[in-house]
Amino acid sequence: MSAPKFTPRVFSGIKPSGGLTLGNYLGAIKRFVAMQGGAFDCVYCVVDLHAITVWQDPAELAHATREVAAGFIAAGIDPERSILFNQAQVSQHTELGWIFNCVARVGWMNRMTQFKEKAGTNAENVSLGLYAYPSLMAADILLYHATHVPVGEDQKQHVELTRDIAQKFNHDFKVDFFPETIPVIEGPAMRVMNLRDGTKKMSKSGESDMERINMTDDADTIARKFRKARTDAEPLPDTVEGLAGRPEARNLVDIYAALADITPAEVLARYPGAGWGTFKPALADLAVEKLAPISGEMARLMADPAEIDRILARGAERAREIAAPILARTYEIVGLIRS
Ligand code: TRP
Repeated sequence: MSAPKFTPRVFSGIKPSGGLTLGNYLGAIKRFVAMQGGAFDCVYCVVDLHAITVWQDPAELAHATREVAAGFIAAGIDPERSILFNQAQVSQHTELGWIFNCVARVGWMNRMTQFKEKAGTNAENVSLGLYAYPSLMAADILLYHATHVPVGEDQKQHVELTRDIAQKFNHDFKVDFFPETIPVIEGPAMRVMNLRDGTKKMSKSGESDMERINMTDDADTIARKFRKARTDAEPLPDTVEGLAGRPEARNLVDIYAALADITPAEVLARYPGAGWGTFKPALADLAVEKLAPISGEMARLMADPAEIDRILARGAERAREIAAPILARTYEIVGLIRS
């Protein structure tokens, strides 16, 4: 039997636009931590070049980049076992991104639902970078020949586009060079919703701070936000099916389940028919118990930004060791001379 062509490798990224939320933690970072030290090489990236597809205040961007890095580490990403870095320090991302801009078709980009949602009725006036964003994301992934990408449901289409780009590149140049990356979409509260509107994703950029839990919120703030979270008037149902059509109730049960590492059914069994007056304080206590050590560690790390920068520099160096030969080979395949 021949050895598998591609090393099992995970790549994923988080944008440093605004602070980290509970959604980033439960939907992404917690799963990234679980993938460490197993079958995969893990590469995790703070995707600062993606953040600037919409204007960012420079000081806030630098702060958010360090804060996301601190969040990764505080939540359990070990910068020795995994590769942790920020995208801007590895120039191969943008170089491969350009090649992929010449592989991807405009028609493919036009189908990206996230672009359509973000651009809305203002599509003539958004940056060209926002439109090309999925092509840079494909470069992020394929620069490491990543085989698996843990992402939320909203990013699945971008990973499918990554496969299309890999396939077209391989076909156009008659090579078998880029892998077909698999999106890994699983886990209970993979999609944490807004505390004020259970049909919208919890986002770091929404207008009201009450709609999200920030990873830097203190215990009182977390408790207050859960107490004021919007719900319906009904108590908790006996079965998960009873949560259908109740997006806010579903979201709070999912958050509890993800924090406690149990299933939503087990949450309902633990609180049979409970009213919100019982369930919300229990959820708040659990959230504080799980998040306080992480936010404490984040604060400790953020007090020494030079140390975070050293970790990112070291991660970038290790990332380049994988990325540079893959980009060099790509240039060769395409016929670009670097003498
Ligand atoms: N587009 C992703 C998001 O908005 C972030 C991202 C950029 C990413 N590059 C990536 C995720 C590569 C996974 C792999 O959440």
